[in-house]
Amino acid sequence: MAKNKSEQENQYIYIVQSSLEPSKCKIGKTNDLDRRLKEYNSMTGKSKDNVYAYLFTCKVKNMTRVERDIEKEYVFLREEKSKEIYFYNQTLFERYVSFIKSHASFVEEIFIKKEDKKQIVKIIKKTTPTLEERGMSKKDVMQKAQNADNDEFFTRYEDVEKELNIYPKSIWKNKAVFCNCDDAVGTDAITTSPFALYFLRKFEELGLKKLICTHYAGKVDLFNQGPRGYIFTKTGFREIKEFPQKYTGSFDDPLSLKILRDDADIVCTNPPFSRARDYWQMLITSGKRFIIISNISNVVTPAFIPYFMNGKAWPGYNSVDNFLNPKRELLAAAGHWYTNIPIKKRPKSRHLKIMPLKDIPAKYKKYDDSKMLIVNHGYIPSDYKKPFAVSVRPLLNGLLEKGYKIVKDNQYFPYVDGKKCFGRVLVKKV
Ligand SMILES: C[S@@+](CC[C@H](N)C(=O)[O-])C[C@H]1O[C@@H](n2cnc3c(N)ncnc32)[C@H](O)[C@@H]1O
Repeated sequence: MAKNKSEQENQYIYIVQSSLEPSKCKIGKTNDLDRRLKEYNSMTGKSKDNVYAYLFTCKVKNMTRVERDIEKEYVFLREEKSKEIYFYNQTLFERYVSFIKSHASFVEEIFIKKEDKKQIVKIIKKTTPTLEERGMSKKDVMQKAQNADNDEFFTRYEDVEKELNIYPKSIWKNKAVFCNCDDAVGTDAITTSPFALYFLRKFEELGLKKLICTHYAGKVDLFNQGPRGYIFTKTGFREIKEFPQKYTGSFDDPLSLKILRDDADIVCTNPPFSRARDYWQMLITSGKRFIIISNISNVVTPAFIPYFMNGKAWPGYNSVDNFLNPKRELLAAAGHWYTNIPIKKRPKSRHLKIMPLKDIPAKYKKYDDSKMLIVNHGYIPSDYKKPFAVSVRPLLNGLLEKGYKIVKDNQYFPYVDGKKCFGRVLVKKV
């Protein structure tokens, strides 16, 4: 039967998913997106709580050709019985979409308004008081989190990407990455931790051997059913999620420690601020490589100074100034990346002004009441033989890679004219 004009013009490809089958999706063609979705949602035998929703829709010039080319391209990712049904996970979905968008027949993506408003990432409302208005600094926020058991600071995807993209690809080749602090793997980018998402997306590009992500079940077991922590493992195309009995998903659960010991090569995550000390101790004792986020002031905090002093950890490349709270609102806080992976060239080291003491401007050098030299503003003496006191910034900017070492495994509090100043670290030219 000949097609009428509007049918010829309206040619769409869609990816649709049922709420009860998150591991699958259907890819098909239609002349009418509304009608097609209604058909899915009124199928006989379908239960009430099984709702179909579009994940992606687009207009194309020749829907039959696109549909056929998808079938050919992803023949191994299709169910044998039904041509329409494809395996689904976030990485595969992105592949399907990018294949469709780069097809010669692709015209434009059609954005369909989703009912689910929870998924919208809201940027902080104007009515929310600023940190200054609340009399707090970004550092205070992190300190409060560390002290007050508030760990619900979620990392933004762009921060993960910005840091991890800098390391040479060779460090990941054939390695097993372990994301061990509530790095959930859900059905979409909203319910998947940004660490998991990064490695899922880049799995092949980085040549990873394995990705293991654990989900923390939380402290409360509401219905006494036992904790529901899980372990997600991806090896090649095989992805499995296991819920071992009594598994909490905590980084110090015996099973998580076993994975760390036996399987993991590189650990990447943003651990809970309230457990930072335990986490660092566990991680550094494991001897594994890591790239993690922690408080920006760790380099001058007594519990962590020994790690930097003994070359067990050093700052990564970037600070992390913003996180998301559970409502997915932007929250300013002072985090930084830390690692034990060698950093050859650190762009921020250009902020270090290393020069003979006599050339450092007078206002940026002074001696405290016990004659200890204090330098500020990135100035570092190149010819001073004794220890001197620096603040966080030069250490984050790579001072320890420039021939200086920490000489005291505790904070140093200078007194100037009897007045206590903020804590620093004592360093010395090697
Ligand atoms: C700072 S958030 C980061 C979450 C996620 N990794 C991200 O980067 O967005 C720390 C997470 O660790 C979880 N957590 C708390 N205690 C934990 C534990 N003992 N083991 C593993 N995760 C824990 C918290 O519930 C929180 O979701």
